[in-house]
Amino acid sequence: MTGILKVEDKISAKMRFMRARVDQGKEMDFYFYNQPIEELRGGTRVRIRGREMLMFASYSYLGLIGHPRINAAGKAAIDKYGTGTHGVRSLAGSLDLHVELENAIAEFKHTEAAITFSSGYVTNLTAVSTLAGRHDVVICDKLNHASIVDGCLLSGADFVRFRHNDMDDLERCLQRAEAKATKLVVVDAVFSMDGDIVNLPETVKLCRKYGAWLMVDEAHSLGVLGTTGRGIEEHFGLGNVIDLKMGTLSKTIPSVGGYLAGSDDMIHLLRHASRAYIFSAALPPAQAAAAKAAFEVILDEPERVETLRRNAAQFMSGLKQLGFDTMLTETAIVPILCGPDERAYEMTRYCQRDSIFVLPVVSPAVPDGMARLRATVIATHAPEEIDRAIEVMERAGKKAGIV
Ligand SMILES: Cc1ncc(COP(=O)(O)O)c(C=O)c1O
Repeated sequence: MTGILKVEDKISAKMRFMRARVDQGKEMDFYFYNQPIEELRGGTRVRIRGREMLMFASYSYLGLIGHPRINAAGKAAIDKYGTGTHGVRSLAGSLDLHVELENAIAEFKHTEAAITFSSGYVTNLTAVSTLAGRHDVVICDKLNHASIVDGCLLSGADFVRFRHNDMDDLERCLQRAEAKATKLVVVDAVFSMDGDIVNLPETVKLCRKYGAWLMVDEAHSLGVLGTTGRGIEEHFGLGNVIDLKMGTLSKTIPSVGGYLAGSDDMIHLLRHASRAYIFSAALPPAQAAAAKAAFEVILDEPERVETLRRNAAQFMSGLKQLGFDTMLTETAIVPILCGPDERAYEMTRYCQRDSIFVLPVVSPAVPDGMARLRATVIATHAPEEIDRAIEVMERAGKKAGIV
């Protein structure tokens, strides 16, 4: 009884703290989260509380949300199968659409097989916790996404982190873990807060040298890196060198869900041992069909990948010329360093008042004093829209004292 009361108290305290923190943010006009988008026009314009804003916070990197062929595929799937599945895949939830989507992913990622799950978050959680357990070690880049961290914690394996993209430190971690029979290294291909790219060639070399498995999260590299948008391996011209390629269906692919692509044996294991596959419902038909159509569109409209690269370069160089610190980004995620949290909030407020929809990332998501705007560029931004965003950011940066 006493134990239960203690738990309730802690929960009440957490609720009070969160209410106070958000209320304070609202009072200071510093709360920008969860604003409902009422309308999306042309992929780059959103209407929020009746006001049109230019979207610079989208992960639809190739601008595929609303693509007519993808919409049509989703609608046709609803007409044929309805809106739901019959439950988990292993029992009654598998549709031919799921198999077709997984085949399309395997082909796109040049692997023997692929498997899908209901979200990218769950995909990381289940991948790490299925492959590693007690007595094993999982070695992660310090800036890996939270879903990988949560997967490591759930797995019960030793959880070791190396300094961001520091290959000497990765080697030290691998040396220290030599006694472990199973070593799994997990990295993001493109780091979601900073936009920089993992040193894949060296990571692969070290994994091979020390007999470690390699898993790479391609949430922000699919459709973004490589001449045809196939991702990190194509970017480095390395061929099929990653043991397990993870990606989401919610960013470049305008749907929802996550996937893992790898050898036939690896995917067979996950299909029969992963708890998120066995105990959670299948992707809805419309989402599976839309995702499959999106992979086809990427191949049929390769110019989108090049346009995205051009747009990101225009945005980044414009900001740098004004004196903004965009950190080490090389991709479509463009951090704009502001410093203390308050400055990032101020900068966001000025931008949004000037109709640029961009959001701040503050501590604890990033280290204290490293708060930033995390702007994203997409392939369907027109050059004039990018120029307009740069102009607004210049005005905002001056008012906030950043440039
Ligand atoms: C690097 C990375 N991995 C995984 C995820 C989770 O994907 P989803 O949003 O599809 O669940 C995200 C999403 O923010 C991400 O940025």
